[in-house]
Amino acid sequence: MRDSFARKIDYLRISITDRCNLRCRYCMPEVGVPSVGHQAVMSYEELLRVARVAVDLGVRKIRITGGEPLVRKGLISFVSELSRLPQHPEITLTTNGLLLADNAVPLKQAGLSRVNVSLDSLQPERFAEMTRREGLDQVLRGIAAAEAADLGPIKINVVPILGVNADEIADFGRLTFVHPWQVRFIEFMPVSSGLDYTPEQLYPASKIEADLQQLAPLTREERHGIVGPARIYRLQGAQGTVGIIPAVSEHFCGDCNRLRLTADGQLRPCLFSQQEIDLLSILRQGCSDELLAELLGKSVRDKPERHGLRDADYTPGKRRMHGIGG
Ligand code: 5AD
Ligand code: SF4
Repeated sequence: MRDSFARKIDYLRISITDRCNLRCRYCMPEVGVPSVGHQAVMSYEELLRVARVAVDLGVRKIRITGGEPLVRKGLISFVSELSRLPQHPEITLTTNGLLLADNAVPLKQAGLSRVNVSLDSLQPERFAEMTRREGLDQVLRGIAAAEAADLGPIKINVVPILGVNADEIADFGRLTFVHPWQVRFIEFMPVSSGLDYTPEQLYPASKIEADLQQLAPLTREERHGIVGPARIYRLQGAQGTVGIIPAVSEHFCGDCNRLRLTADGQLRPCLFSQQEIDLLSILRQGCSDELLAELLGKSVRDKPERHGLRDADYTPGKRRMHGIGG
């Protein structure tokens, strides 16, 4: 599929739940998180139908996100059904790692290719402060289990926040000297209102790069296959790589390759777009595969050229990150 700006769209992100076992301050408030009711969540059968049509249209990579996908029951069989779709799309998972230690081997056996683990601090107290829950050791065990289960190369997602964890960029970068991981720094996106951090706490890509350069010379890596908006580098002498995702400060949208499906069945052309197509209702009215294909095509055509995060009239949306799937 091509969108109106000639971008190739071959990547579908499916959020299977908006629930989470952490309460990261850049994502959710502590209390009063209204969760989507059971009925309003897409069933695995419904998700598989959408995925099958998307694969027919050329989608080659499917990422399962949340909330925290490992809190939803039945994930392992869902992964195995996805991986058996025609064309064998690559299936990946984004997780906070808390439940990964026990699930890594079954996920691998079900056909999962790789995992991305969200981790914002390597300091136990700070981890607890940022996520409002304990669990750093458990996440580190989860990462080790995923690596042992051959779910690598492991990608770690870090969101640096000024005055909170932005002083850990070098520590995270150093991990790549001893592990073959890709540590990716994502600029904080003020996607929704009512979060604990302000847009002024955004730590820009230029500073992230400068901090990494303090460790060792950085060289840009060639990229192959399905590539998204991350810029990938290697610190001289490192086993792994580092990535910088300038989500806000630069227009990374030119390389966008994805569609998103929310846990409640809304198809979104862009993380920041308020436009949604209600696939859940349409599926439950007994729609045909042809109509589904048409709606996926429409969402692709509706992809905006770029987000308006830096526009003067930008207003954050109602949905929080855990409802969209990051
Ligand atoms: N800004 C940037 N990244 C975010 N994530 C969640 N909320 C935000 C935000 N406001 C990240 C998570 C996860 C990825 C899917 O999105 O850390 O790694
Ligand atoms: Fe959960 Fe991820 Fe949101 Fe943290 S960022 S609260 S791990 S969904």
